[in-house]
Amino acid sequence: MHESAVPIRGGFCTETRPAPCGVVIFGASGDLAHRKIFPALFGLYLRRLMPHSFYLLGFARTQQTEKEFRQDLESSLADKFPQAGRYIPQFLAHVNYMSGDYQDPQAYQELRRRMRKLDKLCDPPGNHLFHLATPPFLFAPITAHLHQIGLATHMIAPEPWSRLLVEKPFGRDLESAREINRLLHRAVYESQIYRIDHYLGKETVQNLLMFRFANALFEPLWNRRYVEQVQITTAESVGIEGRAGYFEDAGLLRDMFQNHMLQMLALVAMEPPVSFQADRVRDEKVKLLRSIRPFPEQGLEQVIVRGQYTAGKLGSQKVPSYREEPGVAPDSNRETFVAARLFVDNWRWQGVPFYLRTGKRLARRVSEISVVFRPTPHSIFAPLAPGELQPNVLSLRVQPDEGVSLALQAKAPGPKLCMSSLTMDFRYQEAFGVEPPEAYQRLLLDCMLGDQTLFVREDDAEIAWSLLDPVLQAWDAGPRQGRPQPYRPGTWGPAGSDRLLKRDGHTWLVPEESSDDA
Ligand code: BG6
Repeated sequence: MHESAVPIRGGFCTETRPAPCGVVIFGASGDLAHRKIFPALFGLYLRRLMPHSFYLLGFARTQQTEKEFRQDLESSLADKFPQAGRYIPQFLAHVNYMSGDYQDPQAYQELRRRMRKLDKLCDPPGNHLFHLATPPFLFAPITAHLHQIGLATHMIAPEPWSRLLVEKPFGRDLESAREINRLLHRAVYESQIYRIDHYLGKETVQNLLMFRFANALFEPLWNRRYVEQVQITTAESVGIEGRAGYFEDAGLLRDMFQNHMLQMLALVAMEPPVSFQADRVRDEKVKLLRSIRPFPEQGLEQVIVRGQYTAGKLGSQKVPSYREEPGVAPDSNRETFVAARLFVDNWRWQGVPFYLRTGKRLARRVSEISVVFRPTPHSIFAPLAPGELQPNVLSLRVQPDEGVSLALQAKAPGPKLCMSSLTMDFRYQEAFGVEPPEAYQRLLLDCMLGDQTLFVREDDAEIAWSLLDPVLQAWDAGPRQGRPQPYRPGTWGPAGSDRLLKRDGHTWLVPEESSDDA
């Protein structure tokens, strides 16, 4: 293993190169593999963060030759990395492909034969990462087949290693999540399972931990005494992008809320871990998720609201309603928007509302966490009362235009009492002169390095499901439980979302427009 400490402006950065390994990608001809996984591996290759010797083996049902597979990949990489075209052929020399049926034992025999041959390229051989970029119903059969041929087995020795990288969704409710976990554990230990929530790989989400725990300034204020409310918004302007089959089954609560939204909440609100070791961080996240107040059986609509987009306009473009999207039932009640008010029942956060909202076809693509501080206890600036002064708001912009800003009150130039809000702003790109890397790069690298910090542990996923199961059951019970509230594309969701906060005397903060929107 090669490790080097790279000095960066006033700090340091440890970059580690993983040990030689073979990466087998199931679902290699799919959209995710082409859009995210291979580009991330190529990105690591360009940063010299792939192992000294490695191979990539794509496995999928699509019948095509290795040459055709590489050609497809070449064009998607060339689109994504216009400046790095000359490195693509070198990278493609590591790429292999085989087609096969996920349920066919013969295909796995062939896979083993291919891997034995390819392993000879690695020194030392035998470290394997199996990336399951397939629909979740295939997780268990693929793992069982790998287990049968001796490729995914319970291992505790550090080397050679065998790891499973699993894409979300991890089930569709608590019961199915438990079942998947049970089946995976038949083949491998939990320490070999890496469940991806790609939001955890986003640079600014990771920055949250640095921000909170590498500065002395914020942590003393990070509690019910000084924080009035916390808002987390993840908005997308796109619709379901041709994924009706998946979305009609899942809905937004499963797609975004169970995972990305609750993970961000956990990182904002958790206690400081004793160290930055995987299980110490994950213990704190789990503890936090356990402290979230369960949803009530009665009056669910007072704390969680669902919406569905109607037809309308996004800018000058006409867009169909959710029910008019190809493949969606004309009377579908699937939610494309969710807003909730959550409470964390522990000493630190008692009584502080956490408002979370996420949706498709909203005003613009933005993901932001805002911590709103309490008003000053007393105003010396009569006639302004403390509540009339704008609150201090710390906003962590997850995307786009990644950064952090702090809204402060200051004297504006002018006659005696001129007060105005200004923001202290840190923009990732300005400060570091580079775009933050894609989340998948971080996650794939960590998985090859055996660092589980940014991956979802079994208990973490199960607690999130157990919290949401009553809501899913109520919503899936049919129209007796009401329907999603309609909202127009280009807005911030249905009126019920605003009412959630209005009851507490609060309103949603409008995320600042980024330079990309202008
Ligand atoms: C995925 C969801 O997990 O996250 C998609 O399945 C969503 O529905 C996507 O569009 C959003 O990811 P990002 O990184 O573009 O914010």
